[in-house]
Amino acid sequence: MAANGPAKIAPSILSADFANFGAECRAVEAAGADWIHVDAMDGHFVPNITFGPAMVKALRPHVTTTLDVHLMIAPVDPYVGAFAEAGADVVTVHAEAGPHLHRTLQAVRAAGAKAGVALNPATPPEAVAHVLDLVDLICVMTVNPGFGGQRFIATMLPKIRTLRAMIGERDIRLEVDGGITPETAPAAVAAGADVLVAGSSVFSGGSVERPETYAANIAALRDALSG
Ligand code: DX5
Ligand code: ZN
Repeated sequence: MAANGPAKIAPSILSADFANFGAECRAVEAAGADWIHVDAMDGHFVPNITFGPAMVKALRPHVTTTLDVHLMIAPVDPYVGAFAEAGADVVTVHAEAGPHLHRTLQAVRAAGAKAGVALNPATPPEAVAHVLDLVDLICVMTVNPGFGGQRFIATMLPKIRTLRAMIGERDIRLEVDGGITPETAPAAVAAGADVLVAGSSVFSGGSVERPETYAANIAALRDALSG
């Protein structure tokens, strides 16, 4: 059992209809999403470009739950304030995105957001060992960041287990991001994850006109966890 109760499902709008984000967020929340995950990419840290703070600000009124913003941006320090001001509840930065992770996490909290740190697949769990008192969330990338719809990297499971042990009694969420499906989610949760980012597996086959598919996809994730 995860330390923070039943795992939260955080659909990534990277797999939503880019012409209809407000309605997509409302639909997926009505379908049972616990959080909304937003992937900001800069075309430099990762080979894809997506959203900036203005988009997060536009989205904010359409999201009643936690707005979980994952910054795949380097350098990231100049932007954390803008994303927090735009309404992000959690601002997650990559450990690999700059030389001063400790300072970056301080800046996120000073801006009024919860601070998350994401680890690329090749980054060891020890990268966060000395910043645990500054983080509210650790995100284990279970794909190489940049795109939705990739395969879950199962060799990340021991890293999830190690981080769960490192977290101990601290109030820190352990998130997994990439390739989460009803087939892969149970192993991630068994290893200690308590927030599941899911893009393609939540949005596939659905639309704002067919939100029942979103509900069925989210239910399939939850069923896999309770089974
Ligand atoms: C990848 C992003 C993920 C992505 C997950 O760079 O950080 O949040 O949207 O998509 P799926 O669930 O399709 O792997
Ligand atoms: Zn993400």
